[in-house]
Amino acid sequence: MKKIAVIKGDGIGPEIVIGAIKVLDVISKKYNFPVEYTDVLMGGIAIEETGVPLPKETIDICKNSDAVLLGSVGGPKWDTLPGNLRPEAGLLGIRKALDVFANLRPAILFPQLKEASALKPEILKDNIDIMVIRELTGGIYFGERSRIDLEDGGQKAWDTMAYSTYEIERIAKVGFETARKRTKKLTLVDKANVLESSRLWREVVSKMAADYPDINFEVQLVDSCAMQLIRNPSQFDTILTENMFGDILSDEASMLTGSLGMLPSASLGNTTLGIYEPIHGSAPDIAGLDIANPIATIMSVAMMLRYSFNMEDAAKDIEDAVSKVLDKNYRTLDIMGPGMISVGTIEMSDLIVKEII
Ligand code: IPM
Ligand code: MG
Repeated sequence: MKKIAVIKGDGIGPEIVIGAIKVLDVISKKYNFPVEYTDVLMGGIAIEETGVPLPKETIDICKNSDAVLLGSVGGPKWDTLPGNLRPEAGLLGIRKALDVFANLRPAILFPQLKEASALKPEILKDNIDIMVIRELTGGIYFGERSRIDLEDGGQKAWDTMAYSTYEIERIAKVGFETARKRTKKLTLVDKANVLESSRLWREVVSKMAADYPDINFEVQLVDSCAMQLIRNPSQFDTILTENMFGDILSDEASMLTGSLGMLPSASLGNTTLGIYEPIHGSAPDIAGLDIANPIATIMSVAMMLRYSFNMEDAAKDIEDAVSKVLDKNYRTLDIMGPGMISVGTIEMSDLIVKEII
């Protein structure tokens, strides 16, 4: 029995998670493993119902599960709350509570979506297949922050980006080992020309590179990397970077693949318990309209099978089903193109389910 904690969240979260659960249901029948879902609250909806973005019960249930499936959190309704009570604080809190320090964000261009990519075909070349490995439980997201009043009537606010050797080493190990299973090229992205924390990253990771002589290790500054992702994206294979840089670069990488609605993610720690969520947000402007793309969340289920359950065949089955539906020219609005057939969230999920059965 696989126990799955389900956090539908806010905005389009519930719609896309329902699609992903349909896929997980058929996969569990086909591959013969029972699944048990427990719905838990987090984000804006948790604020409404319990007063806090991350109730203790949610943490406990997630910790006692085999995997967490997550939609998205946040929305304009909660934008004026203090930082520690915003929906996003729930997301950061669950990542920290489960100690999932390694966030894997693959940006893969389906050949069928070349037209939907923001880049010209000659820049895309044959393929885009980048794995962004984002540190997820440290850095500026979790460092000391505050705000004070100044005598001049203004205010001063700060956030701190801090990393320890231990935090860098454990994520870098994931980076080297991931690169080893791919094309053996690892790019560390930092801002070592300015930031002391980046200089520590560069020292620690460069030292570790000596233990991985088979890996083609290089470093890039984050501003340059942002530019190179648009200029020549196929130079990248595995990108290793700190929390905030990874947040930004993974959104950028998603546009190479056509849409933010296509990119899944896995957040992993030292156990098999992981959090699986699309990299996109809650898109409150299109919530409830049945137009959101469920593919990122469905592909996150594939990552769950691969990383938490060690079921590579079942993971591939989902990815192939998505590819077949794209072959048949079905598209949600975000990836719509001339001559394609427009479908909504529910229909897209059902089409993928049909390919799996
Ligand atoms: C992401 C999101 C979150 C993040 C937000 C919603 C807090 O942008 O998962 O990329 O910054 O980590
Ligand atoms: Mg983000």
